[in-house]
Amino acid sequence: MAPFFIDPDIRKAHTLPSNFYTDPAFFELSKERIFARTWQFVAGPELCETLTPVTLLPGMLDEPLLVSSRDGDVRCLSNVCTHRGKVLVENACEANLIRCGYHGRRFSLDGKFLSMPEFEDVNNFPTADDDLKHVPMAECSGFCFASIDPAAPFDDFLGKAADLFDEFEPKNLKLTATKEYEVDAHWALYCENYLEGFHIPYVHKSLNEVVDYGSYTTETFRFSSLQTALSEPGTTVTGFREFPASKNPVATAPGSDKIVAARYLFLFPNLMFNFYPWGISVNVVEPISPSKTRVRFLTYVSDESKLDSGAGADLHGVEMEDEAVVESVQKGIRSRFYSHGRYSPKREQGTHHFHRLIAEYLVD
Ligand code: FES
Ligand SMILES: [Fe+2]
Repeated sequence: MAPFFIDPDIRKAHTLPSNFYTDPAFFELSKERIFARTWQFVAGPELCETLTPVTLLPGMLDEPLLVSSRDGDVRCLSNVCTHRGKVLVENACEANLIRCGYHGRRFSLDGKFLSMPEFEDVNNFPTADDDLKHVPMAECSGFCFASIDPAAPFDDFLGKAADLFDEFEPKNLKLTATKEYEVDAHWALYCENYLEGFHIPYVHKSLNEVVDYGSYTTETFRFSSLQTALSEPGTTVTGFREFPASKNPVATAPGSDKIVAARYLFLFPNLMFNFYPWGISVNVVEPISPSKTRVRFLTYVSDESKLDSGAGADLHGVEMEDEAVVESVQKGIRSRFYSHGRYSPKREQGTHHFHRLIAEYLVD
């Protein structure tokens, strides 16, 4: 049964009701219904050791995984010993096999059970249950994703947005900074704020000076959405080549003096890839509780000379402005006088699309 209904017609639709954000039961339900069935960020092109332990979505899924890579063969395995459940690899390392530090069980790099001391008399042993489970994994321009139980293949999640990554060679993307923010708000409030440029003139005064609000567009795909911000004439030093899937008429208009200042790609439910002339800023939204969210910012630079100009120049300042408004909404949605709202058909297609997906995933 569907706990929520979001009308497909944005003109008739109401936003998600406030109990989605305030009732801890929906937060719990989202773990298996939403997060375990979607693709989660594992690592970027910086991954280099043979064995790298990764906790998938700490605080939400908390799933210990192991990325095993050898000669370009990358796999994602369960990082839990099939004997009594110890986590196998605690730190990234070079190795030829995986050995459990508790009772010595050994596995090959592709997760096959190899040997176990003192188990000679055990009946019907080993079986496939003693191998490490393989976890579905996908890769795009050096970015790795995993999913516990994907509702659809990764390529469907990315859809046409895959073209965006073609502009970047993984070897040219250098992870130059990581930063963590803790926001006192529900994870979905943080995401839905990201999904509309409607608030730019009100919340982001400096950003509003470099992007052209009038031509800002949102395109929605099956599991992702893409916002494109064009520059105000003369405000950015450079742009990108045109994104082939874009339907933005201004960007493609011959002789237009506006160029793409930024593209904001959202992969449902919690991944943001922000494309700037200098590279990609990846934001991973990690729910901690119904009222607390951690957001990791990973900065991948391909052209350092463009770091200080345009829409991607002051990401920290923009983040502070977003956090203040999202934390205010967190307080507001608890009000006895607020239950839900309506959408601007012109400016909130991304938020409407996001709410529709949440409602779809929460179905029994
Ligand atoms: S838990 Fe790994 S060998 Fe016992
Ligand atoms: Fe914002």
